[in-house]
Amino acid sequence: MSFTVPADLEAEIDELITHYPQKRSASLMVLHALQEHLGYVSKEAIEWAAGKLGLQPINVYELVTFYPMFRQEPAGKHQIKVCRTLSCALGGSHKLRHHFCEKLGLDPHAHGLQTTKDGKFSVEFVECLAGCGTAPVMMCNDDFYEAVTLAKADEIVAKCG
Ligand code: FES
Repeated sequence: MSFTVPADLEAEIDELITHYPQKRSASLMVLHALQEHLGYVSKEAIEWAAGKLGLQPINVYELVTFYPMFRQEPAGKHQIKVCRTLSCALGGSHKLRHHFCEKLGLDPHAHGLQTTKDGKFSVEFVECLAGCGTAPVMMCNDDFYEAVTLAKADEIVAKCG
C-alpha cells in the first residue's frame, strides 16, 4: 500500500512551509507535524517529507535520527527516554534504563525502542537532553526529570499508570 498523507495534514504542511524563506528551513516543523498526526516518522514519511522540502531522503533521515524527539516506529502512550550521553552514563543512566525495563517487563539487554504489550509504556535511550549538570536525566512524554534515582523512576511509572 502506498503512503498517503491526509489532505488536511498536507494542507497544514504546505502552509507551514510558506513561513520559511527556504523550504528546507521548515524541515523540523514538517517532521513534528507528521509525527504529531501519524504517531511516528516512518521511512515512507521521510521520503514524502523530502519530496515536499526539495531534499534527498538522507537529509531528512539525518534529522530524524539526530533529534531524540523523533521516533521511527510507534511508541507507547507514555514514552520514557533516558539520556545515555557521557554525563548521564557516568551518573547511572544505564542502571536507570535497566530498572525501567525490568519494572515494565521489557528486555533490559535489547537495543532500541521497546514498547510494553499493552502499549502503555515505551522505553528507549536517547542522546543528550541538555541537562548534563543534573545527571541522570530523562523525559516521560513532555515532562523532564533530573537527578533521577531508582525510587524516583518508580514514582514516575506510578504517576503514569
Ligand atoms: S549527558 Fe545527559 S543530559 Fe547531557
